[in-house]
Amino acid sequence: MRTINGLNVSEHGNPDNPAVVFVHGFIYTQAMWTKMIEFLKDDYYCVAYDVRGLGASEVGDGQYTMESFVDDLSAVVEGTRLDRPVLCGLSMGGYLGFRALERDPKKFRAAAMLDTRAAADDNAAKLRRAAGIKQITEDGLGAFVDGFLPKCFSDRFKSEEEAEFRRHMDAAKAADPKGVKGCALAMQGRTDSTAFLATIDFPTLLLCGEHDALSPVEEMRAIADEIPGAAFRVIPESGHMTPIEQPSATADRLREFLSTLSKG
Ligand code: MLT
Repeated sequence: MRTINGLNVSEHGNPDNPAVVFVHGFIYTQAMWTKMIEFLKDDYYCVAYDVRGLGASEVGDGQYTMESFVDDLSAVVEGTRLDRPVLCGLSMGGYLGFRALERDPKKFRAAAMLDTRAAADDNAAKLRRAAGIKQITEDGLGAFVDGFLPKCFSDRFKSEEEAEFRRHMDAAKAADPKGVKGCALAMQGRTDSTAFLATIDFPTLLLCGEHDALSPVEEMRAIADEIPGAAFRVIPESGHMTPIEQPSATADRLREFLSTLSKG
């Protein structure tokens, strides 16, 4: 682990291999990629970091925007000297990823977007964010996590892998409320990347858990349809958190995609 611009960054594998930079979802940390990175690190140089406000990255004043998150991603790419890595983002990491690609498409070789969306929050989503922030302020982060996190996982995972599900609940409850609220505000205020999709001219993979309740299969398929040449794959028996619920299958799909990319 090392710190770049206040961000907790980890690097796995041989830096001479093709690089992938991983951006996690809300309210998680880079630990959500741990099992997938185990599957990939012998062949790919895997870089992950905690988004500002979460994990062991600095919280600061909690005033984040999607633009400041993209600045942070650039600092990680530059600080680790990655040369046009593949960008892999899940959900909030995908929002951040789409915006980073839109701002500077030449910085990345290809993109793998998992369980995410390209559109901005609509009014209903903005109001849900506002209610969530109010709940954290008035009732504490635990109450918010109790309502939010169970929606991220399939019923199968919550019953068959209950101990792991509980660990993710506990980890989310241990986050800094100021950082969590800052992330919610950044997501609430993000721009809409839908118009950018048709202009994408680099290889793109979209992955979605079969039972994703937050970014459902039909919505992700529609994103893939907008991106010229994009591949779209469904991860069976998974909710929103594909790298946690089905790390092996998710890593296999990512590996298939990575193996099609030229090294140059
Ligand atoms: C995530 O997994 O990052 C969240 O579901 C994103 C969101 O709340 O929109």
